[in-house]
Amino acid sequence: MGESFQVRPRQLVAGGAAIGTDPDGRVVLVEGALPGELVAVEPSRSSARMVVASVTHIVEPAASRVAPVCPAVAKGCGGCDLPYADPTALPGFKVEIVRDALRHLGGRRTEAVFVGDALASWGYRTTVRAIVDDRGVAGFRRSKSHTPVAPDRCGVAHPLVDEVLTTGRFPGAAQVTIRAGLVDGSRLVVVEPTEGSSPEAVLSDVVVPSDVVVVGSDGVVRGTDGERGVIRERVGGRDWRISALSFFQTRPDGAESLVATVSAAVERLCGHGADRRGRLIDAYCGVGLLAGSLRTAGWEGPIAGIERSPDACDDAAVNLRHDDVEIVAGDVATTTLGSASVVVADPSRSGLGREAVDRLAATGAEGIVLVSCDAASLGRDTALLSAGGFDHQDSTLVDMFPHTHHVEVVSSFTR
Ligand SMILES: C[S@@+](CC[C@H](N)C(=O)[O-])C[C@H]1O[C@@H](n2cnc3c(N)ncnc32)[C@H](O)[C@@H]1O
Repeated sequence: MGESFQVRPRQLVAGGAAIGTDPDGRVVLVEGALPGELVAVEPSRSSARMVVASVTHIVEPAASRVAPVCPAVAKGCGGCDLPYADPTALPGFKVEIVRDALRHLGGRRTEAVFVGDALASWGYRTTVRAIVDDRGVAGFRRSKSHTPVAPDRCGVAHPLVDEVLTTGRFPGAAQVTIRAGLVDGSRLVVVEPTEGSSPEAVLSDVVVPSDVVVVGSDGVVRGTDGERGVIRERVGGRDWRISALSFFQTRPDGAESLVATVSAAVERLCGHGADRRGRLIDAYCGVGLLAGSLRTAGWEGPIAGIERSPDACDDAAVNLRHDDVEIVAGDVATTTLGSASVVVADPSRSGLGREAVDRLAATGAEGIVLVSCDAASLGRDTALLSAGGFDHQDSTLVDMFPHTHHVEVVSSFTR
């Protein structure tokens, strides 16, 4: 611990901290501050060039600092890490997070980072992962701690999910994932037992509204002999089957916006010489959302989707049965992808990494549309793609996660 001092951070950076400079000219990373406000901080770690600190007192609040609206924050819930930031100002801060990551990790200084459609700030999440306390009540971690806090109401959960979260009881569970499909109101909960608990006993003790399907961590519905839990969602005018363990975007309006942003990026690549009668690869295709939507949007050539989750591959086979899409079960980093005119890649939080970038580059694609759900991994992947011969063109923020520092970014790269 060092001595307390005051700092006025200039912007947020990847991870959600605010960055500023201390009186000795060192970089300061402040947790709990917003750009432009003057805060008193207490250092928790420091080196010759850098200080990590937490806010002890807000001396001059930023205009973007608001009183948190969600009732769960007053109970100490840390599920959303920026509940005190004005939701209308936050997308602008996230643009700076993305620019900073592109510059410092990707070696790309650019103004071409844009904000996409405005999405609802409340009641939007149709998938929520929660921890369970020793009473069997679901909740989220207290800010900067591992202690669970059970909200009476979660402001960001869709009401169909919020009801299960706040009224369900899950004795013996460590974590639960609650999901709803808005097309038909289908709901399920995936229950992960604590270490040492019997999975059957934990599943049978779950108490939830009668329509909610209870699923084990193997994806199988409670009391059946292997029946799979699924929800259904509608995006892009099409219905999607999503198995309990398959990935889907956390909100259907966000998925809609993502599809439109990716389609527009692919369209621009076609304007720059990519051939829409060529092959398109949807790497990390999940249940087939982007591959199917791009087919609907008019991609004429062959499409292949690569996905390593067996459940998601099964869903994609069902969802894309009329789209003439080849589903390849495998790891993008180790699968021979063949040639492509355009690649769309939507990896998990850790990003593409070197092996996958090498695989994508080997397709000979004219352009790549990269969907990143982490600013730092976007920065790292931009550097790898650049070394592989792809120039970053632009990035668009799809603001899926209000009240948090989390980003979803669609970026295009051309060879
Ligand atoms: C962020 S999701 C995107 C899914 C899809 N694009 C969508 O929007 O619904 C990432 C997907 O990649 C899959 N995945 C993660 N790592 C993978 C890998 N190394 N190779 C292939 N698939 C992977 C996950 O199972 C998940 O379905």
